[in-house]
Amino acid sequence: MNNQPIGIFDSGVGGLTVASAVMEVMPREEIIYFGDTARVPYGTKSAETVTRFSRQIIRFLLSKNVKVIIAACNTVSAVSLKQLRKDFDIPIFGVVEPGVDSALAATKNNKVGIIGTAATIKSGAYENIMHEKNGNIEVFSQACPLFVPLAEEGWEDTLVSKLTAEKYLEPLVEKGIDSLVLGCTHYPLLYNCIKSVAGENIELVNPAKATAQCVYDYLISKNELNEEDKIKEHKFYVSDMTDKLDIICKKTLKNDFPLEKIDIERY
Ligand code: DGL
Repeated sequence: MNNQPIGIFDSGVGGLTVASAVMEVMPREEIIYFGDTARVPYGTKSAETVTRFSRQIIRFLLSKNVKVIIAACNTVSAVSLKQLRKDFDIPIFGVVEPGVDSALAATKNNKVGIIGTAATIKSGAYENIMHEKNGNIEVFSQACPLFVPLAEEGWEDTLVSKLTAEKYLEPLVEKGIDSLVLGCTHYPLLYNCIKSVAGENIELVNPAKATAQCVYDYLISKNELNEEDKIKEHKFYVSDMTDKLDIICKKTLKNDFPLEKIDIERY
């Protein structure tokens, strides 16, 4: 057994959707979360910049004595994960491969849609892994860069979000997809809006739960699950205290956790 915490990071609040899945799948694990709210979005930045930011965050998480790290960001998982795994001697989990596995399990007609940030879609990471695992899959991708600021603003139930979703998703719906991967950890925050446009016949695939399950399987295999039965002191750090952060955190985690601002550039 290992009672060190699990480190989770994202460019902002999106990774909270993964933190929430980790709490559900592994209720005895303690979490150290970092959201890079000062530098979000990552999805419009170069791979080099995303990797540099991620290295700083991993150094910060290592200073908190974490046992594994989850890059709860599709952009980091798609463009930086290979390099980060070479740079650091700690298990680092991404969200793309669990997302692919969930989509392959969900689709019946082998037509899958992927939505993500511009960087994730441009990287082709989802298509490549999907085709490696199943040569018969047809993949249709769409970058949705406006979804991240809409989610960070907490604007999920507004007309502007609905119209934006229609513009992005209608071309995918027309292709006849039966499952749609939410390939950005911010997008589950817009779940209802995306579902209302995708319709009943398209299953929305959120990689968060499958990611948490992968980490669980790993910890079990290494005999490193936390078995302590005590109140968990999860810690949430951000690089900027932006408006509405508290509200989004509370809504996503269904609890009031204090947020602490740190200077990530020091790491
Ligand atoms: N939530 C992140 C992702 O999954 C990044 C969003 C962004 O910073 O652009 O890709």
